[in-house]
Amino acid sequence: MGRGLKNILVTGGAGFIGSNFIRYLFEKTIFSGRIINLDKLTYAGNLDNLKSIDQTYGNNGMQQYIFVRGDVTDQPLVTDIFQQYEIDTVVHFAAESHVDRSINSARPFVETNITGTLTLLECAYAVWGDRDDVLFHHISTDEVYGSLGAEGYFYEETPYAPRNPYAASKAASDHMVMAFHHTHHLPITLSNCSNNYGPYQFPEKLIPLMILKMQQQEKLPIYGDGKQIRDWLYVEDHCHAIWLIINDGKVGRTYNIGGENEWSNIDLLHQLITLFATETATPSQTLQKNITHITDRKGHDRRYAINCDRIKSELKWFPKTTFEEGLLKTVRWYLTHPQWIKRVQSGAYQQWLESHYTL
Ligand code: NAD
Ligand code: DAU
Repeated sequence: MGRGLKNILVTGGAGFIGSNFIRYLFEKTIFSGRIINLDKLTYAGNLDNLKSIDQTYGNNGMQQYIFVRGDVTDQPLVTDIFQQYEIDTVVHFAAESHVDRSINSARPFVETNITGTLTLLECAYAVWGDRDDVLFHHISTDEVYGSLGAEGYFYEETPYAPRNPYAASKAASDHMVMAFHHTHHLPITLSNCSNNYGPYQFPEKLIPLMILKMQQQEKLPIYGDGKQIRDWLYVEDHCHAIWLIINDGKVGRTYNIGGENEWSNIDLLHQLITLFATETATPSQTLQKNITHITDRKGHDRRYAINCDRIKSELKWFPKTTFEEGLLKTVRWYLTHPQWIKRVQSGAYQQWLESHYTL
């Protein structure tokens, strides 16, 4: 492995992909350094996701994992973290991540996704200066490229054409990352990934939302005709890609990451119903009857599809998990974690926060 990573600042590490990434680094790689997880713990941040990591690697364990509750827009705090923990690598996940929320209220997306990214870049540049043994890796999305018709793929060179406030805020943050590289020579890498799924995903996103609604025998809401297409990737495969990039990715480069796994929402739901019915011995007709087509998402992008030849050829990455395996693991995870679901749905995962952490 190329870079000698010692102290990694992970932002948004209590969210879905961030928490999977921290677990992946400690449990699936040879990483022996320290991770500092900076997270504001918004509605999407959940320390339950990292309980076992904290027990094994935290203060009372191997002292390789440190949690800091805070906002990525807080310049003094971020600077202090860079200095105190001698950060040499940033993996920047923290974001407002849900498209529907950005349609209802775009401002928090500008604040966290754009101002937050700028704050991190400024702090990195102020503390690192012209060091070239450091790296700022920015996590982004395929949504920055806009929407595809029936044919074609998003390439790293595809011009940006974001079409919803979430995508626009991520596009702005990507441009800022590139601008700091070109202007100040800050060592950066960037990745644009397709839809992730897997354990610990907040149940506002399609797959966990549908699993929980099936469990609770509720209607299964499909936006519009349900023929919109997404390219699905199992979250652990995304984490592996990020690990390869931060170790061996070329500075200044963007890497597209995707599952080569396109599904229309309605076909995906039928597949999920079949799996869920088998796992729970529920008649699939009962679940099928609950499918309900509702008003379409405003400005709903029709199709996303990623070409990931670059990361495959340069870093020898490929998606290892088939959709069938990944979906089965995901359904089983939600079926076997009723406590996690109960605490998320009741809000209990956040009720104790104010007495433990201040912002
Ligand atoms: P998530 O919503 O599950 O988690 C986001 C995390 O960021 C939460 O823990 C939240 O508390 C934290 N956060 C939010 N605002 C913050 C702030 N101001 N300061 C500090 N922490 C803050 O998101 P996710 O699905 O894990 O996505 C992580 C990253 O990956 C995002 O940048 C997203 O744009 C990108 N991405 C996600 C997907 C996907 O399918 N989920 C696909 C491609 C790219
Ligand atoms: O493409 C990457 C993006 O994938 C990430 O950047 C975003 O952070 C992530 O949220 C995700 O965005 P989507 O909008 O594609 O994900 P979501 O799970 O919200 O929706 C997936 C598809 O399912 C989309 O076409 C909308 C549709 N949908 C979603 C929900 C929640 C429904 O039909 N019904 C629903 O109830």
